[in-house]
Amino acid sequence: RGVPDITDQSAVDHRACGHGKIILLGEHAVVYGSHAIAAPVPLAVRAVAQDTKSGGVDMFIPRWGVEYRLHRDPAHRDSFQRSLGIIFDTLELTERSMRIEVFPNVPRAMGLGGSAAMAVAVIRALDQHYELGLSDEEINALAFRCEEVAHGSASGIDNTVATYGKPLLYKRASKKGDAPMVRELQLPKRIPIVIGISGKESLTAVTVGKVRTAWQRNPALYDGIFQQIDGLTLQGMEAMQQYDLERLGDLMNICHGLLNALRVSSWEVEELVQIAREHGALGAKLTGGGGGGSIVALCPQNREKVAAAIRDAGYQAMEVDIG
Ligand code: MEV
Repeated sequence: RGVPDITDQSAVDHRACGHGKIILLGEHAVVYGSHAIAAPVPLAVRAVAQDTKSGGVDMFIPRWGVEYRLHRDPAHRDSFQRSLGIIFDTLELTERSMRIEVFPNVPRAMGLGGSAAMAVAVIRALDQHYELGLSDEEINALAFRCEEVAHGSASGIDNTVATYGKPLLYKRASKKGDAPMVRELQLPKRIPIVIGISGKESLTAVTVGKVRTAWQRNPALYDGIFQQIDGLTLQGMEAMQQYDLERLGDLMNICHGLLNALRVSSWEVEELVQIAREHGALGAKLTGGGGGGSIVALCPQNREKVAAAIRDAGYQAMEVDIG
């Protein structure tokens, strides 16, 4: 179904990479101030910066077939250039002559945090190459600004996982400019997950925008759903810390139902969720923006079976341990 091969992990260099992620509980509601739980996956985006004499910033992402010269004037940039362009403007590198090559092992537009991982990878590559001495906080803050352009109104969770590469509980700041609440999750044991990748690309900006439109039409109705997601996310954190996977699975299933109520699911996502549950997953839900993209399934006993059933149906599956 046109999904790039994500099993190639050879190019991961952690000094210049951004981590891909899954959201276990709380996506979309997190944009409105609810908690969410996210964890890195062993997929990363790596970037390399080199000096050239070309007279501009040239970006190459061979795997995605993307190649462009960054427009110096932000007004002339398309949405892709606008997002990454913030990095060069902020670091005052727009006038330099360089080639940036990006190696994304995170599949594009699959709800796995590809845009945030790319922003972090590019910032880290520039930081290394120009010896800028950026701290992780500065890298995260700059990647957040890229995410705001990429997602419309990003919560900041994707760039935070992309930067720190740790499982965490996250809640955005209630006022712009304040720091979000980020708590690293210490788990007694690693949690076995299957990621099912639908192959249907979906832009988070689009699903975030759809939820916003619905919320604006009836804020009380949607705030109620966000509150329910918030409550079950906090219960999910307890379940993870107590390694109560039955409970975590129930919470994931209910979260999926609520995300479906927000209309961010799709045919492919529903099929993946059903396949996972039928083959014994304790819980299965969409992860990230939805509208296509990926699902996560909690599979303590029968992980291979779930992954095989997903592959038999023509999708990609990846087995990961969280924690
Ligand atoms: C995307 O990975 C998660 C969303 O909640 C958007 C965001 O938090 O920025 C859908």
